[in-house]
Amino acid sequence: MNDSKNSITLPDHIAIIMDGNGRWAKKRGLPRSAGHRQGANAIQNLAIECDKLGLKYLTVYAFSTENWTRPQKEIDSLMSLIREFLEDTEKKFEKQNIRIRTIGRLDRLESDIVEGIKRTVKNNAQKTGLTFTMAIDYGSRDEIIHAVKQIIKNGIKEEDINEELFNSYLYTHDLPYPDLIIRPSGEQRLSNFLLWQASYSELWYSNILWPDFRIKHMIEAIKVYNKRERRFGGIK
Ligand code: IPE
Ligand code: IPE
Ligand code: MG
Repeated sequence: MNDSKNSITLPDHIAIIMDGNGRWAKKRGLPRSAGHRQGANAIQNLAIECDKLGLKYLTVYAFSTENWTRPQKEIDSLMSLIREFLEDTEKKFEKQNIRIRTIGRLDRLESDIVEGIKRTVKNNAQKTGLTFTMAIDYGSRDEIIHAVKQIIKNGIKEEDINEELFNSYLYTHDLPYPDLIIRPSGEQRLSNFLLWQASYSELWYSNILWPDFRIKHMIEAIKVYNKRERRFGGIK
């Protein structure tokens, strides 16, 4: 570990909106799918680095509920990459203690991808290092509506509904709220990612395009985070 890594205090949970793959490819005269491929490599390597660093939770936005509006060719290339990613995660993360999970809807994904998710989650359930959560067909509004429907279905009484109960119905129920949300590519918005959970998250934006994002950028973000004063509405 080098000095720059030693001088940081890690937050518990970092979430990333992996954006800019298309622009990365365009800059190089490549098809957008090439950007997505590089993006997939970047997250695989970053997850390994985060586990080595000792981070507890890393959550990444891989495919949003709105990304279905993209051209079919692009959706197909993204789904192929997700499929590939899931296919040999055991091999990819062989030496790591990474627990992989997903959040999001499963009912609109191809059945082999759903199988891949279930297999991956099961095969990695015993790991005790980094909890690596991929948001696939995830959207916060959809997650909140799903939670409301479940609460009604379960006949929960009005007086029993509070923040803790509501949170227990979200896909992220077993994750702490993110401390730090990172969005590369220059956009400064959440794009329907973890809206409830991000209430008091610190946000860090950068112009780096996702395929170029490395652990050094994350360390830069953590250093900025370390200087922030989180007040949660109180007074320090
Ligand atoms: C992020 O890159 C990947 C997904 C949204 C699935 P984009 O595909 O959004 O790339 P840009 O924003 O067009 O550059
Ligand atoms: C957010 O990026 C979704 C993911 C990174 C998976 P988008 O590229 O879809 O978001 P907008 O359209 O710029 O808001
Ligand atoms: Mg984008």
